Amino acid sequence: MTARVCLVTGASRGIGKAVAERLAAAGHDVALTARSREGVEAAAADVKERNSGRAVLGVVADLTVPADVERMFTEVERALGPVEVLVANAGSGSAAPLVETTDEQWQHMIELNLTAPFRCVRRALPAMLDAGWGRIVVVASVVAKRGESLVSAYTASKHGVLGLVRAAAAEYAREGVTVNAICPGYVDTPMTAETVASISARSGRGLAEARQALARRQPIGRLVDPGEVAEAVHFCVVNGAVNGQGINVDGGAVQS
Ligand SMILES: NC(=O)c1ccc[n+]([C@@H]2O[C@H](COP(=O)([O-])OP(=O)(O)OC[C@H]3O[C@@H](n4cnc5c(N)ncnc54)[C@H](OP(=O)(O)O)[C@@H]3O)[C@@H](O)[C@H]2O)c1
Repeated sequence: MTARVCLVTGASRGIGKAVAERLAAAGHDVALTARSREGVEAAAADVKERNSGRAVLGVVADLTVPADVERMFTEVERALGPVEVLVANAGSGSAAPLVETTDEQWQHMIELNLTAPFRCVRRALPAMLDAGWGRIVVVASVVAKRGESLVSAYTASKHGVLGLVRAAAAEYAREGVTVNAICPGYVDTPMTAETVASISARSGRGLAEARQALARRQPIGRLVDPGEVAEAVHFCVVNGAVNGQGINVDGGAVQS
């Protein structure tokens, strides 16, 4: 496949880092972004070390700040060229009973998990349309497709971003641009480690037991590996006929 310029948001750790690794291993140039300079530079150095022939760039950006989104794209364009593959992965979760969910928690989930991907997609599209080729993959969640207790704001933001993906895919299908979402279940990342810690604190169970309980909730009886999510992202990059999909990588939790 032709080498492409890829931008992966939230790539300092977890799923985003695995996606950056996968795309670099496939022969693409990759820009990794996150808020922490230390985190993003360490991740970029790791990816570069294993893929010495590729251009790998670390960019610091807080995606809830509109000016940062613009600056991030400009930095990538100057260093590598127009973004041809956008992986909108940065996100986070917060848990609370619906009646205790504050406006601030709600706004943050919507800003980071829905509005930030919208701004990135809107910024990436013109260059893709000019080139007549582009790939956009949003890392959503299994809760983009079903409701789950205690995560109403997160669930609403992920349902919303799947709507964005489907609308964009319909709008640009004839322009050589595909737009898809990956919908993972519980993945073995630092974000899930936080979930495990809060289950442990709430229930009094040890960390290993809490992690086991989470793994058992998935039909495959284990956490998803970040590399398995990255493989699904790569599939969306190489296959131009898959468009407007929310691809479940959840061990069989949602059958659709
Ligand atoms: N882990 C799971 O079980 C799971 C399941 C389904 C879906 N997902 C989704 O998958 C995506 C990645 O999850 P993960 O588990 O890999 O999370 P993670 O380990 O917490 O990593 C999140 C990444 O996003 C970055 N980030 C967070 N807030 C940001 C902001 N405001 N601006 C820019 N970057 C930001 C983080 O770096 P900084 O903190 O330095 O900014 C980090 O690189 C998220 O969208 C999540 O909702 C995860």
